[in-house]
Amino acid sequence: MGRLDGKTAIVTGSARGTGESTARLFAEEGGRVVVADINEDLGPQVARDLGDNGLFVRLDVTSEDSWQEAVGTCTDHFGSLDVLVNNAGLLNIAPIAKTSVADFERVVAVNQKGVFLGIKTAAPAMRSGGGGSIVNIASIDGMKGGPNLIAYSGTKWAVRGMTRVASGELGKYGIRVNAVCPEAGGPDMIKPYLPDGMDPDTVTRYRHQILSYQKDRKSSDFIRDVALAVLFLASDESLSCTGTEIVVDSGILADRPVVA
Ligand SMILES: NC(=O)c1ccc[n+]([C@@H]2O[C@H](COP(=O)([O-])OP(=O)(O)OC[C@H]3O[C@@H](n4cnc5c(N)ncnc54)[C@H](O)[C@@H]3O)[C@@H](O)[C@H]2O)c1
Repeated sequence: MGRLDGKTAIVTGSARGTGESTARLFAEEGGRVVVADINEDLGPQVARDLGDNGLFVRLDVTSEDSWQEAVGTCTDHFGSLDVLVNNAGLLNIAPIAKTSVADFERVVAVNQKGVFLGIKTAAPAMRSGGGGSIVNIASIDGMKGGPNLIAYSGTKWAVRGMTRVASGELGKYGIRVNAVCPEAGGPDMIKPYLPDGMDPDTVTRYRHQILSYQKDRKSSDFIRDVALAVLFLASDESLSCTGTEIVVDSGILADRPVVA
């Protein structure tokens, strides 16, 4: 018995990183998965690896038309939409003074508007199927304020807020809406911001060493942990959970002053 037997999911941003790991885990658990991404180099191969349970769809989460097409393709091909993981994201690290309006708007378009459009487009399809589960990927940067993250952190706070609003509105249709707040993610997202030659795995291990056993683990292990939290919220194991979030951060927030 798979934990997602009989369910169909759209996972945005699943050509690589956390989304890819989530898509692969969902398929291992019996789910049918739409690998939805703008990355047409990597995405199709992830879908092919899932066999008959995988389908690649080019989705730009910032476009309402693109969302309509992706949800339509999903229901035409697999017959239903039961789970949406709003995972696609963009990072921008810059001081406020050096954050251009264009950069700010690019991050908001993907991280915030993309989640809004995903919820808006998926909800009617889920409603007609009797309900569903939406999992939004936020971040611990949406639970605190960090320097140089004015755009990114702001959107991740917004994702948590939209999660709560949508859970209240959509509960009457049997649709649950939750968030996962990871510290770690795909190494490619952070790589452009690290000094030349610095390995993202080393940085992640260093930050997570509050737990002794994290010291030999790799990015793929950390993002698998995020995917497992997403799986729980996607599956019927979490039927009583909505409007809430799971923090996957090795205790980093608990060890530091936070605003929550
Ligand atoms: N990397 C981290 O350290 C970290 C930490 C906490 C939370 N997160 C969050 O986890 C999620 C996954 O990120 P990741 O770490 O796997 O990063 P990643 O950069 O490896 O993957 C992001 C994916 O989103 C896709 N994407 C970007 N713009 C898109 C668009 N307009 N439409 C569709 N797809 C688009 C990219 O092509 C890519 O495949 C994001 O929401 C991110 O903010 C990441």
